[in-house]
Amino acid sequence: MTAEIIDITTDREKALERACAVLANGFPVAIPTETVYGLAADATNPAAITRIYETKGRPRFNPLICHMADLAMAERYAVFDPVSRKLAETFWPGPLTLILPLRSESGIHSLATAGLDTVGIRLPRGFAADLIRAYGKPLAAPSANTSGGVSPTSARHVADDLGDKLKLVIDGGAAPVGVESTILRVEGGAIRLLRPGGVAAAEIETATGLTVIRPEGPAAIIEAPGMLASHYAPGASVRLNADHVEPGEVLIRLGAVPVKGIEQAAAIFDLSPSGDLAEAAANLFDYLKRADATGATRIAVTPIPGHGLGEAINDRLARAAAPRK
Ligand code: TXA
Ligand code: MG
Repeated sequence: MTAEIIDITTDREKALERACAVLANGFPVAIPTETVYGLAADATNPAAITRIYETKGRPRFNPLICHMADLAMAERYAVFDPVSRKLAETFWPGPLTLILPLRSESGIHSLATAGLDTVGIRLPRGFAADLIRAYGKPLAAPSANTSGGVSPTSARHVADDLGDKLKLVIDGGAAPVGVESTILRVEGGAIRLLRPGGVAAAEIETATGLTVIRPEGPAAIIEAPGMLASHYAPGASVRLNADHVEPGEVLIRLGAVPVKGIEQAAAIFDLSPSGDLAEAAANLFDYLKRADATGATRIAVTPIPGHGLGEAINDRLARAAAPRK
């Protein structure tokens, strides 16, 4: 099988029609979202969800985010507390996922939630939202990449990785945010950060007046099991906080920071010449893939500030650099 690729800039209506048909037949479709490309399937259809896990090689204990068209649709599947509703009203549609109690007999299949009594919900922007509206049911969608690998931010990334396993890839251009959604869970009125992402913690604190509670260590985020192991891993190994380049390394840097031995770098990628963290996030996965494609065995990365989207960038880099199985 080789995936059909439809570009929404020229064939948006056809893309919606074809995607709805493939979804209705119980197959996943790779779709653009503002964060990363998703591998979307009907969240109420167990055969379709099984195909997501198979296509990615993803462990089935790792639940999927269910994507909704609007808040009214989300309320049919999950129960909102006041803080979660405020977050939804402020940041949706956008790169925020809320973990919420699942309504009983909601119709979302337990394969999508990995049997949990909660569900991760997000309202995406753009084509993805239009598709959910046209299809009429929530779409379960993880990132459209082989489990453990770097997430795709273009249709080309998806086609290179999974093209021979998919029927349809929708091309919506480069994903503007570039890192996955921020995942939050509200409990007892307190906001816990399960995964940093496209909405910075400071924005959440400003919107709610509440402090975002970060997990104390990796063990604390067991609720998001996909986040524990080595993840986002390119083929090359990754060396963080580099202040120098070793022979044969590719360099990923942020702006014109001084780097010793830079002339030895096999290639240099600058996440944002002006040091802008939103631009850096948008380029991160593409540059990791490009650095990998040079064939270098190691990627050295200069320090990234921790504020704003830097928290999500550092989270993904730490997982890319984590010891592999
Ligand atoms: O931006 C994104 O969030 C992208 C786009 C496609 O929407 N999706 C994405 O999905 O990053 P995925 O599967 O790569 O990451 C979803 C994370 C996993 O770590 C999973 O464990 C967690 O969300 N998750 C899903 N449902 C959960 C639940 N009920 N409780 C706790 N964690 C949950
Ligand atoms: Mg993923």
